[in-house]
Amino acid sequence: MKLLVTGAAGFIGSTFLRVLAEEHPDDKIVVLDKLTYAGRRENLPADTYLQVGAIEDPIAVREAMEGADAVVNFAAESHVDRSIAEQDVFAITHVIGTSVLLDAARELGVSRYLQVSTDEVYGSIDEGSFTERSPLDPSSPYSATKAAGDLLVSAHAHTYGIEAVICRGSNNYGPRQYPEKLIPLMILNALHGDALPVYGDGKQVRNWLYAEDFSRAIDLVLRKGNPGEVYNVGGPDETFNLDVVQRIIEATGASEDLIQYVTDRPGHDRRYSLSSDKVRALGWEPSRDFATGLTETVEWYRANADWWAPIRSGDYRAYYEEHYGLKLG
Ligand code: NAD
Ligand code: TYD
Repeated sequence: MKLLVTGAAGFIGSTFLRVLAEEHPDDKIVVLDKLTYAGRRENLPADTYLQVGAIEDPIAVREAMEGADAVVNFAAESHVDRSIAEQDVFAITHVIGTSVLLDAARELGVSRYLQVSTDEVYGSIDEGSFTERSPLDPSSPYSATKAAGDLLVSAHAHTYGIEAVICRGSNNYGPRQYPEKLIPLMILNALHGDALPVYGDGKQVRNWLYAEDFSRAIDLVLRKGNPGEVYNVGGPDETFNLDVVQRIIEATGASEDLIQYVTDRPGHDRRYSLSSDKVRALGWEPSRDFATGLTETVEWYRANADWWAPIRSGDYRAYYEEHYGLKLG
């Protein structure tokens, strides 16, 4: 199979390439990635063919997609806080970008299209879990534009009969996640003795999924999912944010005094929870519980300063100091 994988220089896409190399070593891969602040060549396995370009650019997309049997779209602006500060680029990538990819896939006769999406399109849920039939009710510019992208995918499948599937994952964590997100941010701050900024009361709940497990689910749905359908992929554990921070404090030997309660995120979703029954029926199951995955992730960041040191000393520092009003050590 020849695959176009967009956004694979980021966190989950680069994990997916490692799963493909293990499971389907004969597949031919082309990566199309704009290399935003979150996209890094260093994330790609050696010998990956990378075309630098944007999914909203029809010429770049057609060049990258020529001859592909399947497209997997990871390309996104992935951080909720940044979408609250500046939403335009989210709309361009998630809506225009998805539309350009779908049009090209149809014109070039690509036989399979997989949209990587998020549980955040369903909004927040106080009790129970979202299923694939739950209504979309996104609450941030990030999730609203992701939902718009999903609707375009469903409309293309319905109208033109293209074989498109959507995979909605819960919060991912693992190696190579950009440190703006909760888990890597807290790990690196704890290792440096910096403040651990908890939004609001820290009692928000997230459903943590190891990125390798999400990648394996995406691979399965790409090959075995029913065209036109959605598959939810939720992690095995639900955890209060404050408990995540406590576990990181224990794993790094940092002081609890580093916890600092900061102003809550506007419109903050309280709880996410996904039912994964449908993808489990295809044969997927998570390989790690949260305790195991988190220990491995802390060890990865401890052992890979060469990966995060350039980020922490670059633009990220300015972003962090402006967003939190706190200094990094
Ligand atoms: P990431 O921010 O680490 O990586 C995004 C990648 O997309 C980067 O390599 C970036 O350069 C590239 N990109 C951004 N805009 C682009 C554009 N216009 N054209 C081409 N490339 C572009 O994100 P991630 O955490 O790896 O997320 C990947 C996908 O998974 C996204 O679609 C996201 O919505 C979804 N998702 C993420 C999570 C999570 O917890 N991180 C959970 C569920 C779903
Ligand atoms: P995040 O990693 O940004 O993912 P998402 O917003 O997509 O769920 O945040 C996870 C949770 O952690 C969310 O409830 C917000 C919270 N959070 C903090 O309390 N402090 C932080 O510095 C960050 C980045 C997140």
